[in-house]
Amino acid sequence: MVKGHEIQGKSIGLVPTMGYLHEGHISLIKEAHKLTNLIVVSIYVNPGQFSPTEDLSTYPSDFHGDIQRLMAVPGGVDVVFHPYNLYDYGNSGGVGSDGEVEKKGAVSCVEERGLGHETWVRVERLEKGMCGKSRPVFFRGVATVVTKLFNIVEPDVAVFGKKDYQQWRIIQRMVRDLDFSIEVIGSDIVRENDGLAMSSRNVHLSTEERKKALSINRSLSRAKFAAEKGQVNSGELRNMIIQEINEAGGRIDYAEIVDQETLEAVEEIKSPVVFCIAAWFGKVRLIDNMEINI
Ligand code: PAJ
Repeated sequence: MVKGHEIQGKSIGLVPTMGYLHEGHISLIKEAHKLTNLIVVSIYVNPGQFSPTEDLSTYPSDFHGDIQRLMAVPGGVDVVFHPYNLYDYGNSGGVGSDGEVEKKGAVSCVEERGLGHETWVRVERLEKGMCGKSRPVFFRGVATVVTKLFNIVEPDVAVFGKKDYQQWRIIQRMVRDLDFSIEVIGSDIVRENDGLAMSSRNVHLSTEERKKALSINRSLSRAKFAAEKGQVNSGELRNMIIQEINEAGGRIDYAEIVDQETLEAVEEIKSPVVFCIAAWFGKVRLIDNMEINI
C-alpha cells in the first residue's frame, strides 16, 4: 500500500483501531512517531471478531470526529485506512446464512452473513484462556484482520495497547510464528483521571455504572500493593479483586493472574505476572489489567 515510501528512506508505522478514537489510541500514534516516520492509522470495525450475539451493531463510531482528532495529533498522521469491507469479495458462498451456522456454535458476523471468506488465523494456545473463553471467535477474528492489515499496509512497526494485553501477546506471537518482518510494540494503558481505563465502550456506561466500574482499577491497584508488600498467593489476591468488584455491583467474567509471556495462570507469584480482569457493568463488558514486575 505505502511500501514505495521506503525508497525515500521512510519506515512505516501502523496503528490498527476500530475508531471512536480517544487518548489511548492517540498514545499509540505518539509511540509510532518515536520509531517510524510514516504513520498509517486504520479504522475498521471488524465483523470477524464479533459473534452474532455481541455488540457489532451498537459499536460506537464517529468517523468525522476521528479525523478531527487525528488532525490534532502532534506530528500528524500520513494515511488513514478506512476500508468499507475486508471480507466481502462479491462471491458469497461461505458457510451460509440459512441458520445452519448458528448450530455450529462459535461463528462470527462474517460467517453469519455468508460472506465469501473462509480463511482464519489462530494462535492456538494463547487464545484459549481469558477473553478467548467468553468470546470464542474473538481472537481468530483479530489475528485474521491484523494479518490482512499487515499484508495490505506492509508496516515496519505496529503498535498495540497493553490495555488489550492478551491481544497484544497474541499478535506478537503470530508475527513470530508466521515470519512477518514487523516489530510489534506494546504501549502502556492510558486512564481517565479517576483511573478508569479509556475505552470506546465507556460511552455506553450510565453515570452510575461508570462509578461502579472504578472498582476495577481500585481492586487492581490494591492487589498490586498487596503483592508488592509480599502477598504472593494468587488465590488470595484474586479473591480481593473479585470481592471488591462484586461489592461495587459489577459482574465478573474473569479475574486471572497469569504469566506475562505465556499467559498461563500462576498459583504463586515468583516472576513477572499480569492481573487481568473482565467484568460487566450493566450491558457493558470492560477489560483492564495491571503488570506486576516482581
Ligand atoms: P480498538 O479497541 O479500537 O483498540 C485499538 C488499539 O488501541 C488496541 O491496540 C488497543 O489495545 C489500544 N487501546 C485501546 N484503549 C487503550 C488505552 N486506554 N490505553 C492504551 N491503548 C489502548 O483493539 C482493537 O481495536 C481491535 O481488536 C483491532 C486490533 C483494531 C483489530 O480489529
